[in-house]
Amino acid sequence: MITTRRTVLGLLAAAAIIQIPAYAAKALTMGFSQVGAESEWRTANTASIKDAAKKDGVNLKFADAQQKQENQVKAIRSFIAQKVDVIAFSPVVESGWETVLREAQAAKIPVILTDRAVNVTDKSLYVTFIGSDFVEEGRNAGRWVVQQAAKNPGKPMNIVELQGTVGSAPAIDRKAGFAEAIKGTPGLTIVRSQTGDFTRAKGKEVMEAFLKAQGKNINVLYAHNDDMAIGAIQAIEEAGLKPGKDILIVSIDGVKGAFEAMMAGKLNVTIECNPLLGPQLMQVARDVTSGKAVPKRITTTEGIFPAEVAAKEFPNRRY
Ligand code: AHR
Repeated sequence: MITTRRTVLGLLAAAAIIQIPAYAAKALTMGFSQVGAESEWRTANTASIKDAAKKDGVNLKFADAQQKQENQVKAIRSFIAQKVDVIAFSPVVESGWETVLREAQAAKIPVILTDRAVNVTDKSLYVTFIGSDFVEEGRNAGRWVVQQAAKNPGKPMNIVELQGTVGSAPAIDRKAGFAEAIKGTPGLTIVRSQTGDFTRAKGKEVMEAFLKAQGKNINVLYAHNDDMAIGAIQAIEEAGLKPGKDILIVSIDGVKGAFEAMMAGKLNVTIECNPLLGPQLMQVARDVTSGKAVPKRITTTEGIFPAEVAAKEFPNRRY
């Protein structure tokens, strides 16, 4: 009898000492709608989100939209029907989100944007946006080209541009940032600009068309991501030219594939775009669902990696 009483008292005392976090009472359920699996960057981003959810004990409902907005809308509606605690998504394109985001708001489910932004007038439709500054990435790519132009002032340099997915935030912003940075530098002209949809296959196909149309009159390739640059490198080699030498190449992401291309002398510089957003997303989701205030914009800090530092940096790369 005495033993039982002591045990009960002991348990009560232990419960008072061990502070159980509020969220531990119920596992957080997050619905996440991913863009697709179009690039090395995206694969790393998906792995980061899945790993972080697992480590954090978050019940993740993951849906791959295969680069289609209608699939994302369907997934978000299904998350609402399942009454998840929080919805996160990386929007394929910027516009056309008001209706479904209002549905989430009416259901009192907070929405977190990761990686890509939406273009909505009512900013209360999402709680925060975690991701890179795509305009600055475009500017950094442009600044690098301006530095190259300064080596031969005034000499004409024809630039071809491989854009990302039409209507997506990174394609719009990276185009704008680059154009802003090269504006006013004599000799720099964007002679062709077309979408390669952020994939290697399309990057190659569009570069083939650029080479056909321009012949040898291409000095610089600006690709909105590394995968399209890697596809284009193949097209340039097949055309009998030397990527990284006959045509200077600048791209964005900083994936391992780009570092390998730089070490092989085929790519000149990559502007980093960090896909490892998972841990930050889980933390923000916890904060949001426990009523803590979070900043409306959380920007990722990133570097610039020219070919000269590729071999030294490669062992440190995590994606
Ligand atoms: O939204 C981020 C972009 O999407 C990455 O730069 C690209 O590789 C991906 O597909």
